[in-house]
Order: sequence, then structure tokens, then C-alpha cells
Amino acid sequence: MVERTLVFIKPDGVERGLVGRIITRFEDKGFRISALKMFRMTRGFAEEHYKEHAGKPFFKALIEFVTRGPVVAMIIEGESAISTVRRMLGTTNPLEAAPGTIRGDFAIQTTENVIHASSDEKAARSEIEHFFTEKEIDSGA
Ligand code: CMP
Repeated sequence: MVERTLVFIKPDGVERGLVGRIITRFEDKGFRISALKMFRMTRGFAEEHYKEHAGKPFFKALIEFVTRGPVVAMIIEGESAISTVRRMLGTTNPLEAAPGTIRGDFAIQTTENVIHASSDEKAARSEIEHFFTEKEIDSGA
């Protein structure tokens, strides 16, 4: 099934100049980018995105981190995009992420782990709505 998922390259990935190489991986795989933008999250925007982690010990550091510089957000579209993109990212803890995955190749810290992607269909739907307006999304038609 053709799906859409929300991905953003976190401030560490942008600072380190990894944007091009990361986007290339998704394009090489055959996925289509149907929306793309760079912006700096406000604290409120980040807290809404990460609300399921509110109260966890790493929450404050996570919000500080994702708001410290711009992110590059995109919608990736294609066959089974949600689970496939998650597999391309590797595990949340980059030390456990397999070589060949984005985190396995580019990260060593759990908070500063370069990239986010929606975990499932429900998250993808609400994250896409949170990050992009209908007008910003290319239908492909
Ligand atoms: P992400 O996939 O964007 O979803 C939640 C984020 O919280 C995660 O990536 C990490 O950046 C961060 N995170 C998750 N678990 C931990 C943890 N145990 N310690 C620090 N940061 C974490």
C-alpha cells in the first residue's frame, strides 16, 4: 500500500551537513518527497510533537535540543513507506542501530540521533497534519 510518512532531520543533522546525504538515501530507495521545508520549531510546536514523552527524564533536554536550530521536515511517500523508512533510520539508540541505517552510520547519542520518522499509521497522519498544510503537499498528479 502506498503510504505517506513524516520525517524530519533534527538540528544535529542539519548542523553537521547531513541533509543532502539523508535525502539521497530516500530518493535512491525510490521514495517520492511530496513536501519539504526547513524551519525552526517553537517550544510549543516541539512539546506538541513530543507530548507522549512529557514527564520522561529526557523530555526537557529533548525539547531544548530540537529547538536549538532548524530542522528539515519532509513527507516521504511510497509503497510501505512508514515501516520501511523506520527501518532505514535504525533503532532509537544509535549504538544499537545496524550499520547501513542512517543512525547506525551517522549517530552515537540517543537524544541527538539525527532524524525522526513517524512510528505508525496513526502517528504519520497526525504528524503530517501538524507539520504541513494541504497546500504545502504535492499530490503527484
Ligand atoms: P525520536 O524517534 O524523534 O522520538 C523520541 C525522541 O526522544 C528520540 O527520537 C530521541 O531523540 C529521544 N529519546 C528517546 N529515548 C531517549 C532516552 N532514553 N534518552 C534520551 N533521549 C531519548
